[in-house]
Amino acid sequence: MTGRLSTLLDTVLDRSVVGGYTNLGYRLRRGTWEADDPRPDVLRGRVAVVTGASSGLGKATAAALAGLGARVHLVVRDPAKGRDAVAEIRRDVPAAELHVHRCDVSDLTSVRTAAGELLERLDRLDVLVHNAGTMPPERSVTAEGHELSYATHVLGPVLLTELLRPLLAAAAPARVVVVSSGGMYTQRIPADDPEFEQGEYTGSTAYARTKRMQVALTPLMQERWAADGIAVHTMHPGWADTPGVVTSLPGFHKVMGPLLRDPASGADTVVWLAATEPAPGGGQFWHDRAPRPDHYLPLTRDRGGEAERLWARVLDDLALA
Ligand SMILES: NC(=O)c1ccc[n+]([C@@H]2O[C@H](COP(=O)([O-])OP(=O)(O)OC[C@H]3O[C@@H](n4cnc5c(N)ncnc54)[C@H](OP(=O)(O)O)[C@@H]3O)[C@@H](O)[C@H]2O)c1
Repeated sequence: MTGRLSTLLDTVLDRSVVGGYTNLGYRLRRGTWEADDPRPDVLRGRVAVVTGASSGLGKATAAALAGLGARVHLVVRDPAKGRDAVAEIRRDVPAAELHVHRCDVSDLTSVRTAAGELLERLDRLDVLVHNAGTMPPERSVTAEGHELSYATHVLGPVLLTELLRPLLAAAAPARVVVVSSGGMYTQRIPADDPEFEQGEYTGSTAYARTKRMQVALTPLMQERWAADGIAVHTMHPGWADTPGVVTSLPGFHKVMGPLLRDPASGADTVVWLAATEPAPGGGQFWHDRAPRPDHYLPLTRDRGGEAERLWARVLDDLALA
């Protein structure tokens, strides 16, 4: 296929949503990628941390990074589940060097404890993947009083990155990958209500709003950490068959079942962003190895300064201002 034709096909798949997000899009696009990108063993001697690595896309990411030679630290809220994931990954990658750390990323005290443990044990961190995700059935708050999806998708990842900054800087150029969602296209930045205190709360809206926040804040995170040689990328995996989708979206899972990607295909762009050479430019939103628009709907656009206002609020919530 010529370059122009494959770009056109890629764009058509992306705009059709179902075509691009399912395994159809992945299969068609994969045929246009270099077979040895990322190169085998490219992460040998490198260190990676993956949150939410006990299940679904996080486990597939940890497995793929280990397969490329990285030493991988699985950050999980249930260590027993983390150890099961390690055993499973070792069946495919027997030489994998894997470590489990307990951390509830929505709980800022737990994030501080886990970061302290990592700072003590590591002398560098090349790749940090913020994958842990949740779609709460109803509004709930963490011990510190933050709405659960805001704490899990925004506050925890920003705090963990900030605390691990010395390790990332020691490995510069280092890469941070934030796993967002195509669901974010339906929402604008709730700059004045990130905790979802106003209006009728639904888990799917809270999820999409906080996934929008991840994308909107990525250029600002990039700006904050670029001087240390840290690039921040965000991406969406399309629709993949994971335990999270089975539990949170059973109807969708039933209807879309055969069309869903397997977890490795959903995780492909995370792994590619972590390992491809040369490193892609930071601050962008990716899907299937290509930068994607931040918006399709005019109504979701930033009305001026909303991302900056949200960022100031996040830094304030984390006492990092
Ligand atoms: N699958 C898809 O189609 C899809 C589409 C768009 C975006 N995503 C995103 O992809 C990421 C992975 O989702 P998935 O589909 O693989 O779902 P999953 O199977 O439910 O995996 C989510 C992982 O996050 C962990 N987690 C949740 N809250 C946590 C917390 N507070 N602290 C630490 N870990 C926590 C879970 O831990 P437990 O094992 O203990 O529950 C689990 O390991 C999420 O960010 C999700 O939003 C997925």
